[in-house]
Amino acid sequence: MSANNPAELPSEAELAEMSREDLVKLGMKLDGVELVEYPDPWPVKGTRAEKRAERLVALWFAIAALAGLAFIGVFIFWPADYVAPSDPGYFLYSLYTPMLGATLGLSILGIGVGVLLYTKKFIPHELAVQQRHDGGSAEVDKATILAELADAGNRSTITRRPMIKATLGAGAGVMGLGLGVFAIGGFLRDPWKNSDNKESLWHTGWQPTNGEKVFLRRATGDPHEVVLVKPGDLDAGAMETVFPYRDSEKDDHHALSVALKRSDNPVMLIRLRPEDAAKVIKYKGQEDFNYGDYYAYSKICSHLGCPTSLYEQRTNRILCPCHQSQFNALEYAKPIFGPATRKLAQLPIALDEETGYLYAKSDFIEPIGPAFWERKS
Ligand code: FES
Repeated sequence: MSANNPAELPSEAELAEMSREDLVKLGMKLDGVELVEYPDPWPVKGTRAEKRAERLVALWFAIAALAGLAFIGVFIFWPADYVAPSDPGYFLYSLYTPMLGATLGLSILGIGVGVLLYTKKFIPHELAVQQRHDGGSAEVDKATILAELADAGNRSTITRRPMIKATLGAGAGVMGLGLGVFAIGGFLRDPWKNSDNKESLWHTGWQPTNGEKVFLRRATGDPHEVVLVKPGDLDAGAMETVFPYRDSEKDDHHALSVALKRSDNPVMLIRLRPEDAAKVIKYKGQEDFNYGDYYAYSKICSHLGCPTSLYEQRTNRILCPCHQSQFNALEYAKPIFGPATRKLAQLPIALDEETGYLYAKSDFIEPIGPAFWERKS
């Protein structure tokens, strides 16, 4: 409050006697506020126009509530498990994320538009002029500001509009519930429930099955074309992304296509330059994972799982574009910069003497990518 003449201030007893309206006026006066206009937007109560405005506000809050409910429903019931583009059910699966965004967005929009409309239609549009002042607040200021706030609430007429109160409560409540479901929903679902392979986080598509060799396959752009990798295929200092292939999948278009899409399959095959290969430091227990100058590392970043697609030949660094982690290809893809703290998993490879192609001697011997709860290393 600005410098006020104490003689003009009411005593505590007088304050206690004053009505809310008196306190509002007193507060404004003490704050040096001149109230120029404070018109009631609906001087005649209960008109059809007022009811129409009320219904319009309630409609937006109701939309927010319904959209919030839809968000919860989509989050819980919409088919969210991965479906390959060529498989039935892909269309519904592809709509999962857009539906989450659309329903939550509509819920937030409904609350926002409802609040804006309410402010526009029911809050008195006052015009006031106030002088600025310095200093802390005195008791009288605190009392009057509380009265002003209560008065603003009263003049907003929210107390006598049960339909708006109910729909606002429903809209905000359901939206809040939806956000709560979103936050804790991941803890309610069992990620292993319908998984055929209960160890899926520990294994990738490189895991040999039925004793069959898993070869390194190039991506040519045609998901049904099979081109395998021979040692002479890469120049020294080159890198290529490769995927697993089994002879039994030769004519299985679906399996060939899935092998290129499975998220834990991409592997960087790097052929080091001879002078760099001489400097390599190998990880203990993985000394025979390379074939000559060829080293194969999972492409899934150990930070948050982005594809570490960049290989800088000059420095032998593997770079993840998401948060700029860098891994040293000469030292078992150990992280040397950025937020990643774990090396990239190395795939053990060898040459199949019979066919002359490179193959994976086994799956990765450690989980690839970021940490997960059950992972100990
Ligand atoms: S995901 Fe690679 S640095 Fe973050």
